[in-house]
Amino acid sequence: MKWIADSPKDTVRLGKKIGRRLRPNDVVTLHGTLGAGKTTFAKGIAEALGIREAVTSPTFTILSQYSGSLPLTHMDLYRLGSEEEFELLGGEDFFYAEGITLIEWSEKAQPFLPKETVEVFISVNPDTQQRIIEIQGERFESVRL
Ligand SMILES: Nc1ncnc2c1ncn2[C@@H]1O[C@H](COP(=O)(O)OP(=O)(O)OP(=O)(O)O)[C@@H](O)[C@H]1O
Ligand SMILES: [Mg+2]
Repeated sequence: MKWIADSPKDTVRLGKKIGRRLRPNDVVTLHGTLGAGKTTFAKGIAEALGIREAVTSPTFTILSQYSGSLPLTHMDLYRLGSEEEFELLGGEDFFYAEGITLIEWSEKAQPFLPKETVEVFISVNPDTQQRIIEIQGERFESVRL
């Protein structure tokens, strides 16, 4: 399924609608270039879980946790050195802790990702700055922005 988000508000709104369909132990990878809107989308998911705390980019912290209707772990692996570092950090354990895990720059977690991982692809239309947001899977097909 593919949606066009005209504004940051739209990106949040879509994140919220997708977030409502997530279940315990879901892992969501957020793909897209620097500044595509991954954290903005994550804010929408957090809203769906009733998290009122501001979700910010965890770039410098690697990982932030929030408590909502389900626990939320938000990872940003941009500055992580290697897959081994992810393993040492115990990153995989978060996937099976009955919460939701969101991952920006998930390449270094690749070998550990569950096969049911929900992949969100965000790209930018360079002319309009609109975001094209794409997610595969039946579960999200009826979502309208
Ligand atoms: N649909 C949209 N239209 C226009 N701007 C948007 C849209 N969605 C998000 N943005 C804007 O894009 C900028 C970058 O967003 P964000 O921080 O979420 O990106 P990111 O992918 O997480 O970046 P990084 O790679 O640095 O982590 C923000 O200013 C945000 O408001
Ligand atoms: Mg970000």
